[in-house]
Amino acid sequence: MKDTFAGVAVDTAAAGSHLFVRRAMQVTMMLVGFGVLWLFLCNTTSPFGFPTFSHYFIDESSKADYDPKLDSVLGNASMKDKTVIITTLNDAWAEPGSIFELFLESFRLGKDTHKLLNHLVVITWDQKAHSRCLALHKYCYQLETKGDNFTSEAFFMTPDYLHMMWRRIEFLGSVLDMGYNFVFTDTDIMWLRNPFKRFFKDADFQIACDFFKGNSYDLNNMPNGGFNYVKSNKRTIWFYKFWFSSRNSYPKLHDQDVLNKIKKHPFISDIKLKIRFLSTGSFGGFCEPSKDFNKVSTMHANCCIGLNNKVNDLKILLEDWKKYMALSENEREQSHASWSVPQKCRTSFQRAQKGKKNKGRL
Ligand SMILES: *[C@@H]1O[C@H](CO)[C@@H](O)[C@H](O)[C@H]1NC(C)=O
Ligand SMILES: *[C@@H]1O[C@H](CO)[C@@H](O)[C@H](O)[C@H]1NC(C)=O
Repeated sequence: MKDTFAGVAVDTAAAGSHLFVRRAMQVTMMLVGFGVLWLFLCNTTSPFGFPTFSHYFIDESSKADYDPKLDSVLGNASMKDKTVIITTLNDAWAEPGSIFELFLESFRLGKDTHKLLNHLVVITWDQKAHSRCLALHKYCYQLETKGDNFTSEAFFMTPDYLHMMWRRIEFLGSVLDMGYNFVFTDTDIMWLRNPFKRFFKDADFQIACDFFKGNSYDLNNMPNGGFNYVKSNKRTIWFYKFWFSSRNSYPKLHDQDVLNKIKKHPFISDIKLKIRFLSTGSFGGFCEPSKDFNKVSTMHANCCIGLNNKVNDLKILLEDWKKYMALSENEREQSHASWSVPQKCRTSFQRAQKGKKNKGRL
């Protein structure tokens, strides 16, 4: 009895598993069929490898025909591996004696940075900044922004400021789309030592921090959107589209705060974007200065409110740097040079913090 019973049970199980296998096959075939159809449909319209997400993030109508002039400027400025350095400039920052001059000067004073000027593309927001750029530098590109007026010092967190920041993210996304890697740098960042030797080799998106917590993988670091190195690949192209489209979810925030909101989003781990945070040890600023002159790569006038305060303190910073560079190689290693800044930047920042709580970019 036991045996028969067992036999029936086995038969039923066998029949059940047959049925199961058949069902599974049918379902699989159907899925494969759908998959192929889906891939086919998506690939005819999208060059990217993540069709599942395409309906979310690609506005096909905006799939740009890129300005041939932009292609030409990027092509002329790019390094052998298609990398360019990009900054953006408006009139207030381009004025004689203002930030742009200090920025260019830093490349000339920096260690192994002068030649990098050959790869710098300056994106200008208005006609005046553009003429000023052309007078001082060879690669300038005016971004067409119909009806926009970014001439005056775009006041922090006004609608103009926000718009400009987002236009920048969109633009940088299109640079990636065109196949160029870039280092984006704010113009109030002094380039004191060639950063390419200090970047991580194996990262898609590496970004400087206002405050660094000691671990370059730690998503709790406080990134600063003013300096990042991004390699062009399908992950970063998707990431920039995602970042740009996320502005709709947070209409009052600017790019950097939105980055802080989305940096832990599952989408980013799904696409396996390799994010690293750069230490303030080499990529410092007035929030958290690079202490060791022998290691500093860039210094950012962050944690500072007001153009005049930035200009004042950056001038002093470059004087500190010149004194250090005037030493012999040997003396430099022994020297315990330190910054005489922030001065006006610190007071301006403290005042702002005591007053209205300032939520924007530092
Ligand atoms: C790029 O270089 C070519 C060849 O030197 C030159 O004809 C062209 O005008 C340059 N384009 C720009 C936008 O600088
Ligand atoms: C842009 O704004 C500045 C001052 O804010 C003004 O002087 C200039 O005429 C404006 N330009 C345009 C094209 O509206």
